[in-house]
Amino acid sequence: MKGIFITFEGIDGCGKSTQCELLKEYLKDNGRDLIFVREPGGTVIGERIREILLDKKNTQMTARTELLLFEAARAQITDEVIRPALEEGKIVICDRFFDSSSAYQGMARGMGMDFVAGLNMAATGGLAPDVTFFFDISAEEALERRGKRGEASDRIELAGLKFQEDVRRGYLELAKESDGRVITIDATKEIDEIFEVIKDSLKGKI
Ligand code: TYD
Repeated sequence: MKGIFITFEGIDGCGKSTQCELLKEYLKDNGRDLIFVREPGGTVIGERIREILLDKKNTQMTARTELLLFEAARAQITDEVIRPALEEGKIVICDRFFDSSSAYQGMARGMGMDFVAGLNMAATGGLAPDVTFFFDISAEEALERRGKRGEASDRIELAGLKFQEDVRRGYLELAKESDGRVITIDATKEIDEIFEVIKDSLKGKI
């Protein structure tokens, strides 16, 4: 694949979307050809799946259904958007990708990280990010930030503090086992400082 695939991960309220935005602008200013997408969503079908997944009214949804819907949305965006862009040599920045399923559904929902890894492979046809930034922050601190932003909670965020702590544990495990693909970032640092770390980590890669 000619392009480069960069993903951003972390618990809800970790600040990754701000950094996604900064990287996007920085690369555009440098004349780089890139696309920016988010999961779940990023395609017409994926956005419809996203609505089902995040709808607070869907209290009956089982963990297995949730996992498979995330994977279905992922299969669609991988085939329709990400793979073609990489083949054209573009930089693809994705706000969440399969590590989210490993941490949220595999660890926090208790489906098993290995089990989810298999489904991740099935959904992406084996496509993996070149670099993943994991924004590490405690669940309490992230909750406080979300509170400050005054955002309405979606179905996943409603799962609570303990759930977010489990998600974080999942990410820490992924980072440990990723052979350097996952770069852990201290998300409690200042915005500018974090962005410097990101730029540094990408030197020589893009
Ligand atoms: P979103 O509003 O996009 O959250 P954020 O801005 O934090 O990325 O909502 C996506 C939610 O779905 C978020 O709580 C994380 C969760 N999620 C999973 O549980 N599994 C997944 O595979 C993905 C991609 C997201």
